[in-house]
Amino acid sequence: MEIVVSGIRPTGNLHLGNYFGAVKNFLRLQDEYKCFFFIADWHSLTTHPHPGDVTVNVRKILAEYLACGIDPEKAAIYVQSDVKEILELYLFLNMNAYLGELQRVTSFKEKARKQPENVNAGLLTYPTLMAADIIIHKANKVPVGKDQEQNMEMARKFARRFNTIYGVDFFPEPESYYFTGEAVKVPGLDGSGKMGKSEGNAIYLVDDAATIRKKVMKAVTDSGPTEPNSVKPEAIENLFTMLKIVSSPDTYDYFNEKYNCCEIRYGDLKKQLAEDIVQFTAPIRERILEISADVAYMDKVVAQGAEKARESASRTIKEVRKIIGFK
Ligand code: TYM
Repeated sequence: MEIVVSGIRPTGNLHLGNYFGAVKNFLRLQDEYKCFFFIADWHSLTTHPHPGDVTVNVRKILAEYLACGIDPEKAAIYVQSDVKEILELYLFLNMNAYLGELQRVTSFKEKARKQPENVNAGLLTYPTLMAADIIIHKANKVPVGKDQEQNMEMARKFARRFNTIYGVDFFPEPESYYFTGEAVKVPGLDGSGKMGKSEGNAIYLVDDAATIRKKVMKAVTDSGPTEPNSVKPEAIENLFTMLKIVSSPDTYDYFNEKYNCCEIRYGDLKKQLAEDIVQFTAPIRERILEISADVAYMDKVVAQGAEKARESASRTIKEVRKIIGFK
């Protein structure tokens, strides 16, 4: 049976990028495979969150996972820090991870640039912790968005390296999983780049209708094309990408046609896009509010998830200890 593992950092609420890049595929995979979906609370420590926020943020993501439809009867839903076996594997993997290769990871370089006062070793070894998360369950498939490609390459490299160093065929090489066969990048609506919390351009699943409308109406546009069938500048392309993701093909074709014959009215496009986002998120938002109020249920879910995850993780780590030479 193929194994699926993926996680999200609890640094705030889930946004449309998290949903369409990752969670949507969790939902598709949970019916068919053995799935482990976790909340990466250790990973969130690289930016030194306030202690009071750690539990609160874990609960947020948990309620949102459940509200999206991840089913604790089908998949193990757990909190990373409940599975200490991951740390032991993290240590082992760090012994075979080299300073040079870790320093070359693009997201490390970016973070180091953004937070020069806090270039900590956790940031540097972020890819080994992520690899440990994945291979602790001997995963084959990892549903993630495009921004995780390099981390996934590192995970494969560390899995391969372990097998080579110890002359075993123990860890499978985990593949990124994209339902469409292509990596998904949900754009921001502020002109360039991806949607992200730290980019300050995110639309959250929990946002109410008025907030969503306001955010979408603020999206960056231009004065419109002057030549038929012009290439779309990035900000406009991003709006169309969002339409493709959340609206119907007819809606997309309608506005695309209008663009191509220079009759586009961005205000109309944004209004339609906002309504389509609201229609999609409103029922999820309602469930988030319901589930968040039921702390006992959430506690039960994570306890049950931790048990399933630990069972799988401890099986792997026992084998790993033996392979490395601990008897
Ligand atoms: P994180 O918490 O930044 O994001 C969670 C997931 O959402 C996806 N995502 C996006 N996809 C498309 N477009 C976007 N704009 C967008 N923004 C976010 C991410 O690709 C990711 O799939 N390192 C991971 C967390 C992690 C993990 C793991 C993932 C830790 N251990 C093991 C998989 C397996 C991260 O920071 O994701």
